[in-house]
Amino acid sequence: MAGDQGQGRGVRHAPLVLVAAVARNGVIGANQGLPWRLSSDLKRYKALTWGKPMVMGRKTYLTIGRALPGRETIVVTRDPGFAAPGVLVAHDLKAALELAAERARVMGADEVVVAGGGEIYAQTMALAERLLITEVALDATGETRFPPIDPGKWREVRREKGARGPRDDADFAFVEYERRGETIPS
Ligand SMILES: NC(=O)c1ccc[n+]([C@@H]2O[C@H](COP(=O)([O-])OP(=O)(O)OC[C@H]3O[C@@H](n4cnc5c(N)ncnc54)[C@H](OP(=O)(O)O)[C@@H]3O)[C@@H](O)[C@H]2O)c1
Repeated sequence: MAGDQGQGRGVRHAPLVLVAAVARNGVIGANQGLPWRLSSDLKRYKALTWGKPMVMGRKTYLTIGRALPGRETIVVTRDPGFAAPGVLVAHDLKAALELAAERARVMGADEVVVAGGGEIYAQTMALAERLLITEVALDATGETRFPPIDPGKWREVRREKGARGPRDDADFAFVEYERRGETIPS
């Protein structure tokens, strides 16, 4: 997948924010689902993504199984026959980011959410302005990982300890990173 990184450079796109919940060992997914139950994070996720276009891989879309209300879902797939109710489809990353930028303008959104999964995070991290990471305080077993967050490229600008509720499997913290140095050219 490394060869695909930065595929969208030079594309006219809105600022990108990668939103993910990540275990201590970098795992984000297991068996085409989340490796934990974190009800508090899902509530925050809804608030963070509300009113914005969301770009996600076909596998992540299938784990959710529907277009999320109040947002615009753009599914990336190489399958020319893919269709699903209420979602927009793009067949490469460049097309997905262009479509998302157009939808952001129409929706009055100031950024586009990259909603995963592992393949899509890996291809968009080099293009993103911000990362909104829920650090999940456990080591998870799973096949999908978030790319390493290089402290030379990303500055932690906010950290807030989450309040663990009865429907949360672990402690967690909400962490925001901003890209160091130059902004990404649009
Ligand atoms: N913890 C979190 O915050 C979080 C967030 C999101 C997802 N997840 C988890 O992550 C896992 C899914 O991630 P994943 O890496 O397996 O899959 P993914 O990134 O969701 O989707 C991969 C698919 O996207 C399509 N795709 C990828 N790059 C493309 C490109 N450049 N052009 C066109 N299509 C492209 C392909 O679809 P086709 O095969 O159809 O061509 C590919 O199979 C699940 O376990 C999910 O629960 C976790």
